[in-house]
Amino acid sequence: MRISDLTIVLSSLASFAMAAPASYGKTQLPDGLPTPNPDQLKAIELAAHGTLSNAPPPPSISADGIVNLQLIAFNENSEVAFFDQLIYNITNKVDGYHIKDEKEYTTILAALKAILAQEELHELNANNALAHFMKDRILPCEYIFPVHDLESAITLASTFTPLVLATLQDVVDIFAVGGDHGLARGVTAVVGQEGEQQGFFRILQDKIPSELPFLTTGVRDFAFTALQGFIVPGSCPNINEIPLQTFEALTVLTPPGPHSQDITVQFNDPNYDASHSLWLTYINQQNLPIVEPLHIISHDGKWVKAEALFPFDANEMNGLSIAAVTNSAGPFANANAVAKATLAGPGLIIVN
Ligand SMILES: *[C@@H]1O[C@H](CO)[C@@H](O)[C@H](O)[C@H]1NC(C)=O
Repeated sequence: MRISDLTIVLSSLASFAMAAPASYGKTQLPDGLPTPNPDQLKAIELAAHGTLSNAPPPPSISADGIVNLQLIAFNENSEVAFFDQLIYNITNKVDGYHIKDEKEYTTILAALKAILAQEELHELNANNALAHFMKDRILPCEYIFPVHDLESAITLASTFTPLVLATLQDVVDIFAVGGDHGLARGVTAVVGQEGEQQGFFRILQDKIPSELPFLTTGVRDFAFTALQGFIVPGSCPNINEIPLQTFEALTVLTPPGPHSQDITVQFNDPNYDASHSLWLTYINQQNLPIVEPLHIISHDGKWVKAEALFPFDANEMNGLSIAAVTNSAGPFANANAVAKATLAGPGLIIVN
């Protein structure tokens, strides 16, 4: 199989939402998640090539540490749903998912089945910890992914996985600040694991497996916003218990390649005011956020179309860049400062 070397951008995925095919109109995850019975758990662990940790979680946790667990569970629900659908589509040779070469079919399916089971254990790890701390488990929603063939599915996986890897940096940082050191080790075990998955997705796209020397960082609210792009609005039983921020949608209309160029973005600005300047701010690798002036092209009601430089050459902006429309030029000390000034985002850009 050759999944061509696309330079892809999936931005504020909300804009891709469309009607759900009947077969996916369900809010149930496979294998009894989030509360599998002992036989189901045993089967998941066999498929995952390993087990949930049998060490107990720490006796206490900070309030913000709980939000970390909620966001991880919210994300893992979505990942489980995605890989479950993908395996279904490949196995049933749904249009666009037919892998003709027998050996490739077997290899890819074996990898994806292990990834699904491993994601199921990540989900259980987070939700079981919430239950241990006497909090509600985060329940699955109804999901619609903006993909329709194997190539777009792998492209999406290789876009949400680096976003997760960016976000888990914020999670570990927040655990550290909150004194939750007992949870930091397990999260970094997941960070490495998701990185292995990302290497596999990149190889399927004929890219080199390792994206960057230091992966792009992120902030929880950006992931929380982006993940809602996969969700049928109103279908999440207890998303309201997650006290994170949801930004306005931002779509990158012209995905950049590996050179400096202007890109066009579209976003929702309910309080649009032509006299206020806006900027497009990029988070890439572990560098200080890059701020570019945003030039408004047009606005109609709430939708604004605008243009800004993607300054690839001066910054070697490979891998994931998280773009955000900010109401300040900064300078921003870090990704959290960008989130505080964000109006719309994240726009997700991946180069090389
Ligand atoms: C599975 O295939 C259906 C039908 O084409 C599509 O709507 C759905 O997005 C696909 N899901 C994944 C994860 O590939």
